[in-house]
Amino acid sequence: MVKVITYGTYDMLHYGHIRLLERAKALGDYLIVGITSDDYDKTRGKINLQQSLMERVEAVKATGLADEIIIEEYEGQKIDDIRRLDVDIFTVGSDWEGYFDYLNEFCKVVYLPRTQGVSSSEVRAEKRKLRIGLVGTAVFRTKFINEAKYVNGVEVVGIYASHPGNEPEVKDLFYTDNYDELLEKADAVYIISMPERHFEHSKKALLAGKHVLCESPIAYTREQCEELYKIAEENNLILMDAIKTAYSTAYERLILMAKSGKIGKVVSVDAVCTSLRDGISIEGTDLSKKWNSMCGWAPAAMLPVFQLFGTDYKSKVFYTMFQDEEENIDAFTKIDFIYPSGIATVKVAKGAKAEGELIITGTKGYIYVPAPWWKTDYFEIRYENQEDNKRFFYQLDGEGIRYEIVAFAKAVECNRNLSCISNATSEAIVGVIEDFNERINLTELV
Ligand code: CTP
Repeated sequence: MVKVITYGTYDMLHYGHIRLLERAKALGDYLIVGITSDDYDKTRGKINLQQSLMERVEAVKATGLADEIIIEEYEGQKIDDIRRLDVDIFTVGSDWEGYFDYLNEFCKVVYLPRTQGVSSSEVRAEKRKLRIGLVGTAVFRTKFINEAKYVNGVEVVGIYASHPGNEPEVKDLFYTDNYDELLEKADAVYIISMPERHFEHSKKALLAGKHVLCESPIAYTREQCEELYKIAEENNLILMDAIKTAYSTAYERLILMAKSGKIGKVVSVDAVCTSLRDGISIEGTDLSKKWNSMCGWAPAAMLPVFQLFGTDYKSKVFYTMFQDEEENIDAFTKIDFIYPSGIATVKVAKGAKAEGELIITGTKGYIYVPAPWWKTDYFEIRYENQEDNKRFFYQLDGEGIRYEIVAFAKAVECNRNLSCISNATSEAIVGVIEDFNERINLTELV
C-alpha cells in the first residue's frame, strides 16, 4: 500500500484545495492530510483564519478524500509523521517548490502544480473590509496602525483628534477634527482619547451604529459603563475593552493553567506595571495631556486579579503618591484587594520604578512571569522541588495588539462578543478607577 501525506491550513476550503487533495490521493492508495493547528498557524504568521481548527478538519473530512486526518502542531513535525506513519510520498502544491526537498531523505517528495486563480487569502480578502477610524492622539495609536496592516479584512481609514499629529504612520491617513465626519467614513472606531473622554466618544459611536474597541477604562463610572454595554447590546454592536495583554497566548495559557489547579489553590496575585518614560515627574510636563498611572497601567494589572479571583472582592484599599493631586496624576499607586479566599496586590507607577513581574501564588507552587509580564511570551511554573519546574513559551507578535484586532474584526463579523475580557471584568476595572477618582479608601503617601 502506498501511503501519501500532504499538509495545509485549508481555511475556507476552495476548489484549489480539492484539486490538490484529489491529485494527492491519486498518487497512492492511502491519503493522510495534516491540518495546521491554530497555534502553529499563529507562529507561522497566519493569524486571521476565518475558520477554527475543528471547522477546517470537518471541511476536509467532508471531501471524502482523506483516509486519515492529523493535526500539525510544530515545526519539524513532518519528519516525525513520515517516519511514524510509514509514509511513502510527501506532496504539496508547487507554491512550495524546493522548500521540502530535505524530506527526500525520508520519502519521495512530489510538488503538484498549484491551481491558478484561487487562494484562501483571496477568498478572505474578497469580503468587504472593516473600516476602522481612530479617535485620539495617544502615542500607542501608531502601534495600532502598524499592527492593523497584518490583519487582512481591516483597514484604518482615518483619525479624529484635536490635531493631526506628526508621526509618519498617520501622514497618509484621512484626518478630521469633526467626530461625525470620521463616524461617517468608518464601520468601527478604536478609541485612544484621554480616559475621561472614553465614555463620550464610545457612546457617540455606538449611537451612530458603529462598533467600538476602546482602551481601558472604557468609562469613568460604573453607571456609564453599564450604559455603554446596554446601548451596544440593544443595537447589536460590539463594544470591546482594549487590553492587549488579554490577547497574548502566553498570558491566556497561564491563566488557564492557574485555573486548572496546576499550582493548587490560588491564594495570591501580585502584579506590577511601571514605566518612567512618560516623564510625568519631569518639571514643565503638561500633565493635563498625560494618562495617570491608574488609567495607564491599572487595567492591565487588574486583569489577572479579576480573571482569577472574580470581580466580587470584599474590600480594597489604595496607597497613592500623587505627582499632582489636582490633575489626578498619581506617580505611584498600590491597590490591595481582599477576597474571601485570597488576596491580590497591584502596583502601578509612572513616577516610580520596580520589577514588572507577575506572580501567582498557589498552595502547590507558583506561576512566575518575568518583566515585562504584560507583553510576555514566556512564563514558568515553579515548585518546591525545582526538578518539577516547567517553562512555557508562546510566540507573541505585536504585543498582542494584532490578535486583539483579529478578535475585534471576528467579533464584528459574526456579531458575537469574542472578547477575552468579560463585561464584568471591564465594569470592575471601571469601578476601581471610579473609587480611585472619588478617593474611597485611599491613603495618600507624602
Ligand atoms: N493549493 C493549491 N492550489 C491553490 C491553493 C492551494 O494547490 N490554488 C494547495 C497548496 O499548495 C497546499 C494545499 O493546497 O498544498 C493547502 O494550502 P493552504 O495553504 O491551506 O491554502 P491557500 O489557499 O494557499 O492559503 P493561503 O492563501 O492562506 O496561503
